[in-house]
Amino acid sequence: MTETADHPDAYPPSAEFAAAANVDAGIYERAAQDREAFWAEQADHLHWHERWNQVLDWTDAPVAKWFVGGRLNIAYNCVDRHVLEGRGDKVALHWEGEPGDSRTITYSDLLAEVSRAANYLTELGLTAGDRVAIYMPMIPETIVAMLACARLGLPHSLVFAGFSPTALRQRIDDAEARLVITVDGQWRRGNPAPLKEAVDEALLAKGDVPSSVEHVLVVRRVGTEVEWTEGRDLWWHETVAQADPVHEAQAFDAEHPLFILYTSGTTGKPKGILHTSGGYLTQTSYTHRVVFDHKPETDVYWCTADVGWVTGHSYIVYGPLANGATQVLYEGTPNFPDEHRHWQIIEKYGVTIYYTAPTLVRTFMKWGRQIPDAHDLSTIRVLGSVGEPINPEAWRWYRDVIGSGTAPIVDTWWQTETGAIMISPLPGITATKPGAAMTPVPGVTAAVVDEEGKTVRRGETEANGYLVLDQPWPSMLRGIWGDMERYRATYWDRFREQGWYFAGDGAKLDVNGDLWVLGRVDDVMNISGHRISTAEVESALVGHSGVAEAAVVGASDETTGQGIVAFVILTADATDTGSAMVDELKAEVARAISPIARPREIHVVPELPKTRSGKIMRRLLRDVAEGRELGDTSTLVDPQVFEAIRAGRSD
Ligand code: WT7
Repeated sequence: MTETADHPDAYPPSAEFAAAANVDAGIYERAAQDREAFWAEQADHLHWHERWNQVLDWTDAPVAKWFVGGRLNIAYNCVDRHVLEGRGDKVALHWEGEPGDSRTITYSDLLAEVSRAANYLTELGLTAGDRVAIYMPMIPETIVAMLACARLGLPHSLVFAGFSPTALRQRIDDAEARLVITVDGQWRRGNPAPLKEAVDEALLAKGDVPSSVEHVLVVRRVGTEVEWTEGRDLWWHETVAQADPVHEAQAFDAEHPLFILYTSGTTGKPKGILHTSGGYLTQTSYTHRVVFDHKPETDVYWCTADVGWVTGHSYIVYGPLANGATQVLYEGTPNFPDEHRHWQIIEKYGVTIYYTAPTLVRTFMKWGRQIPDAHDLSTIRVLGSVGEPINPEAWRWYRDVIGSGTAPIVDTWWQTETGAIMISPLPGITATKPGAAMTPVPGVTAAVVDEEGKTVRRGETEANGYLVLDQPWPSMLRGIWGDMERYRATYWDRFREQGWYFAGDGAKLDVNGDLWVLGRVDDVMNISGHRISTAEVESALVGHSGVAEAAVVGASDETTGQGIVAFVILTADATDTGSAMVDELKAEVARAISPIARPREIHVVPELPKTRSGKIMRRLLRDVAEGRELGDTSTLVDPQVFEAIRAGRSD
């Protein structure tokens, strides 16, 4: 915090920014003195149909209950409340379609749309607790669908629209969704890409095995022809759009499930991360208010994430809407029709807060500063970063070029599991350092510890260790859908004695005690801020009849943070062993998981490095992939294997 102001490379906030900021430095002290009272104060920003009688119940650890006895409606908080308080004409969404169409949606409009959808989903027979899968692009109806589910207590499960039919089916089955909401297609660089077709394929994927899905509700976005299954498929414009625009929101328990969101773990099976209501909305709205210094009257906020990821859930939908934000929602890619698109949008709407990922910042750097320099970006006053550590060079460029050399950058560390921002500078308080997430936000605590759970040394020297969260927080996950054993094993076993949550990340504390996140220490890769497990890619590869064995590692990549590098052993009956095979395997992974998971390189090798217990030594493969000297090979069964792998690599 302020102790870092004398750091040679620190950027303190300007006096003007600090003076006008939503919070002052005393907030850290106040939160530390009485954490529960602090969180109660944050929860009081929401509307509760019934107030809670206990802030936190941790007796069932590691499953927390926050705001026990409280009842609220999430959609009422995100929409109705603003209309009832006289802000119905305020713009909620400035939506930009990729082809250049746009829509302005006020809070009153949003209330009518969400109410219509809630009435129609009720008519379909869905009742609180039923799951709904949402497989949609960045259009307003996606947000309407999410809020309608929240309004009715139907946990939604968004599946990123770039995921394959197989991945979609896996998620539908795991959550036993009764309804899928989708679109005919989505715009992708000027072309309509089918999506309804992918749903059809997903529902047929297991041949005779029927899915739990009763209906598919389809929004018309691109206007292309789609196959239709009578009785199952329903057009949004013939159903939802015709429904009654008035709907009374019922209150649900603070711990009622709000959504399931699948994320990659260290096995091939994705984990359905479960989030509930009161604590989640409290922390997402609180962090949106303090981390971005959000002022609903004057700010125009833009988070560039996709709603299909947690950043979209927490910082496009729930946090900002609970705070009555006016925000930009953009459907397309940053370089369609050209690389000016984001800066034109910022100019058009006067965006003041811009939240994106380091991989995109590095892409903008590559395109050159003359592109943003051709635009008036002077409205920007806060910049955010999320998804991976931001390298200092990208940080400085971001601040200088996009933030006119003055906008504070908030480097926000959090996870699908944490639900909301945990570690970040506060823009009016913290003297930021390029590349550091700095300190936990007020109300949150974290520690950097060694193997035994001892706090790493502070003070004179920098020290590396594991990042742990040592106290429960309101927006924490409440479990893994259908697999509470895995929940305990994944997050709580590592430091079981201490009762700490292990985040899976390495971190260091610098001489001032400020925190730098170093990246994953498990077999999870971070590709352009997307989490992909090595096991998932390996299982897609061995799913191909030509592959006998596969090992996958993440190797550092200038633009995407990490790139996927695979080493495969082919089967005897592999018909092709050269580049055609490599191309086919890359395509297979993209098809089985998502184009994001397409390996950057695939090397056909005769053998893989294994320990005596048969474990693949990924550390050594990473050395090979990054062209480094090999680390310790003494535990290998056959150290000669690398000669062969290196030979394979140079093909
Ligand atoms: C993992 C979580 C949080 C929304 C987007 C990703 C990495 C995230 C940062 C940051 C360093 C970061 C971590 C984390 N990560 N933000 N500011 N600095 N690393 O959510 O898919 O759940 O991935 O992303 O490794 O564990 P996710």
